[in-house]
Amino acid sequence: MGLAQEASRVAAEFEYSDAQVNKAVKEFIRQMDEGLEKSGTTMSQIPTYVTAVPNGTEKGLYMAVDLGGTNFRVCSINLNGDSTFSLTQSKVAIPKELMVAQTSKELFSFLAKQIATFLQTHHGEHYHATIRRRATIHSESGFEEREIFNLGFTFSFPVQQVGINKGTLIRWTKGFDIADAVGKDVCKLLQDEIDALHLPVRVAALVNDTVGTLMARSYTSPGKTGTLLGAIFGTGTNGAYVEKLDKVKKLNGSENSDNVDRTTGEMIINTEWGSFDNELRVLPNTPYDNSLDKETPNPGIQMFEKRISGMFLGEILRLAIVDLVKERKTGLFSDDNSSSNDVHSTTCLAENSPLWQPWGLDTSFLSIAHGDNSNGFKVTRQTLDKDYGVHAASAEDAEAVKLIAAAIGKRAARLSAVAIAAVVLATDKLSSPQDIATADDTPVNEDEMVDIGVDGSLVEFYPGFEEYIREALRQIEGVGKHGEKRIRIGIAKDGSGVGAALIALVADKLAKQAQLKEYGEE
Ligand code: BGC
Repeated sequence: MGLAQEASRVAAEFEYSDAQVNKAVKEFIRQMDEGLEKSGTTMSQIPTYVTAVPNGTEKGLYMAVDLGGTNFRVCSINLNGDSTFSLTQSKVAIPKELMVAQTSKELFSFLAKQIATFLQTHHGEHYHATIRRRATIHSESGFEEREIFNLGFTFSFPVQQVGINKGTLIRWTKGFDIADAVGKDVCKLLQDEIDALHLPVRVAALVNDTVGTLMARSYTSPGKTGTLLGAIFGTGTNGAYVEKLDKVKKLNGSENSDNVDRTTGEMIINTEWGSFDNELRVLPNTPYDNSLDKETPNPGIQMFEKRISGMFLGEILRLAIVDLVKERKTGLFSDDNSSSNDVHSTTCLAENSPLWQPWGLDTSFLSIAHGDNSNGFKVTRQTLDKDYGVHAASAEDAEAVKLIAAAIGKRAARLSAVAIAAVVLATDKLSSPQDIATADDTPVNEDEMVDIGVDGSLVEFYPGFEEYIREALRQIEGVGKHGEKRIRIGIAKDGSGVGAALIALVADKLAKQAQLKEYGEE
């Protein structure tokens, strides 16, 4: 077989048919329901204790920090109360060794130091004034209430939440692995290190990035309708949505049910859909998916995420490429001038090419290859040469790589559509009588829109990601062409900043209400 056919054969392994998509949606809804009923299920369906989405009129100055991927971000956010906000932020890459540190203290003290630096740089006056006052007043209780920044802590890992600013880590994902943090309250871990530096900051809310995205989108989105779902398609993937409280059966009778504010009858649920179908009942599975899973610190877990998100897609492609290079008859990256039997010298892949190393291929390469319409795929060939030590790739090589990259990206988008459709269908957002009666080409009016906020490198940078999602949505039973048009997907940038600030605001309000109630009862 020639290279083009070989590449098509590999690409075909990543096809995920309409029938498979529909089957997966049904299984997704089943696992969502199961997760609402009891604990310990594959999809965790974590109650967040956040019971309302904002409407854009919220005001105030809040802080937010974000840990959950490659960078640690610290921000302060001024909510203007008119759907707008201003944000100041600083960002540092998380040192790789801290992601797998011996103790959680190493990581959390690093985070607290970043918060101190941020305060000194951007809120120096407030910071120095409070530190000075603290030194002279010697108040037992520390800072006065008005001097303290309420901080929303975006912590984007699965956490068993027991209150708005309390929750224990269930497991690490995305390459983090610090054993002694599992089972601990991550808000306390951070607050302890903040207190050790005497910073005027209170960790007021614990926030998953998807919940932040949902809040941020709701604050800024057009129209009166609140947002249904916040979803991340970035280094990892996950979604949080607005659920009816009475469907969250596992809350009834639980020791934390007193912490629930029941006024809206709703609660945001963090699905942790990255672990949807760890059993592989309906998920596609190729030899490359299998090899990748074995290389991770959490084999058998986050199986949905491992087929969708940015941390993994590059590695799937790398494994496919290396397979083709090793099967020399395919001719991928072959060095025509060599007659040796050793694979390293018959290929134009340098011996020290990152492509020989696990995790050596960045997912951004998929976007580059997939989007490359240059003459002779020059852009892809240049990137291969410059970043990956492939010095004489031909146009045919680049085309083969593009074909496989596109297939992997398309499968990821179709899987993303499964999650989106399942949430929309499970919450009955499309089953209005006019839906059944309306023709596919009937225009949709503003009030009928189902709003979804998304963030993450894939939705932002992968060419055509949303269109692939939409193509799949149109084929899903119960969504169809008309339903797909009603689903409005909008990028919600800064979910982990402004979203976390909004939750810190809600938490602050709830704490004040509780205090008033207590005084009233005394
Ligand atoms: C984590 C989620 C997070 C998602 C996106 C996943 O690995 O388990 O908590 O929301 O990544 O960052």
